[in-house]
Parts: sequence; structure tokens; C-alpha cells
Amino acid sequence: MNTSLDKNRIPRHVAIIMDGNGRWAKAKGQPRLFGHNAGMEALREIVRHSQTLGVKYLTVYAFSTESGKRPEDEGAGLFKLLVKYFGSEIDELHANHVKVNIIGDWSKLPAESKQAINDALEKTKNNDGLVFSIALNYGGRDEIARAVKNIIESGVNAADITEELMSKNLYTADIPDPELVIRTSGELRLSNFLIWQSAYSEIVITPVLWPDFTKEEYEKCILEYQGRDRRFGGIK
Ligand code: FPP
Repeated sequence: MNTSLDKNRIPRHVAIIMDGNGRWAKAKGQPRLFGHNAGMEALREIVRHSQTLGVKYLTVYAFSTESGKRPEDEGAGLFKLLVKYFGSEIDELHANHVKVNIIGDWSKLPAESKQAINDALEKTKNNDGLVFSIALNYGGRDEIARAVKNIIESGVNAADITEELMSKNLYTADIPDPELVIRTSGELRLSNFLIWQSAYSEIVITPVLWPDFTKEEYEKCILEYQGRDRRFGGIK
């Protein structure tokens, strides 16, 4: 571990926008799916290292609601990759007490992907280690609209709608807000990821493309986070 890291100030919840697989592949003259495959390897390392560092919640943005706009074969390839990922990782995740969680509307995913997800959720549901959330067909605005629908349908009076009630009706109901949001590949946007939950998050952007995001790069991001002065809108 990087000796400059303060072990007592590791963020409890880290959320990551894994971006740049396509550009990484293109730079190598390879098809985009080659990049996604490499991205899967990077993800494996980051999940492992989150446990080593003592991160309690890790949330990754894999496919946005806009991912449907990708070419059809790329979309299908990504869903196959998800099945492959769980196929090769679930035993290790479970052995390490990782609890798998999915945020987003995964109800319309291909049957094979849904099966893999269901198996992973079922197998790890009682685990008390790292809570590892994967955003699939997730959009932050969609999540907020759904929360409002749920609240109205449950018959709550307008006067009783609070921020806390909203939070409890999001996909992340049981998960604290992320202290740190990391985005790879240099883009300076949240892209509709955890827009409610990241209201006070520190955002760290690295130019590194996701397949090149190693545990050392991860630690650099946490170090940058530890150097920030978090005021939550107030003054110190
Ligand atoms: C962004 O790169 C990446 C994705 C949309 C897919 C993320 C998928 C993985 C990291 C693979 C493993 C994940 C799971 C959960 C199995 P991009 O294609 O948008 O890159 P670009 O901006 O360079 O085109």
C-alpha cells in the first residue's frame, strides 16, 4: 500500500465511472469488445484492492441507460461479458464475503444475464464483506423519477416528503452516499451516475483509461481525496 495513504481515512464508499475501454482498444487497433474484456480484468483488480484497503462499499457504472445506443453487437457482447464475469468471479467474491448488488433496471436484460445476476445475488445475499454494486441499465434521473413514483403510490402526503424519504426510495436505499466518485479517461462529467447520492462527494478525475486503471492508480485517487478539504457546503 502507498505509504502516504492514511489508513484511517479510507472512504467508506467509492463509486467509479469506468470509462475509456473503447478508446483503449482503438489505440491498439482492436475492436471495442477487446477493450471491455481488458476492462473486466481491471475491475477484478479494483474489487480485490477495495477489500485490501478496507473500502466497505464499491459501486461501478458499467452500462448506462444510454448504453442501448451502442451498436447492437457491442451491447450483446457486454451482456455476454457480464455472464462471463460472474462465471469466473463469483466463487472468489463469495469466498471473500463480498455481497453483490445491482442498481438500475435490469429487468429487461437478456435471460442469460438475468440468470447470472440472480445466481450471484442469491449466493452472496448473506455476506457481510464489501458491498459491490454494479450499475446496469442505470440512470440517475430515472432513479429519482422512480423514487417519486414509489412515494406517491405509497400514499405519502406531500408535506411528509423529505430528503431522507427520497434516499430510502432510491436503488441505493441501504447504501451510504459515496465520499469519493472516480472517473477514468479524463472526462469531466458525472453522466447521470448517482446524481442524488453524489451531492457532496469528492470527484477525482484521472486521465488513465479504464483498462489501465491499476491498484496504484486507485490509491493515487484516494490520496487525492484525502488531500481535499470536505466542508459539506459549510465552513470550517
Ligand atoms: C466505458 O467505456 C465502459 C463501458 C460502457 C463498459 C464497462 C464494462 C466493463 C468495465 C467490463 C466489465 C464489467 C462488468 C460488470 C462485467 P467506453 O466503451 O464508453 O469507452 P470510450 O468512451 O473510450 O468509447
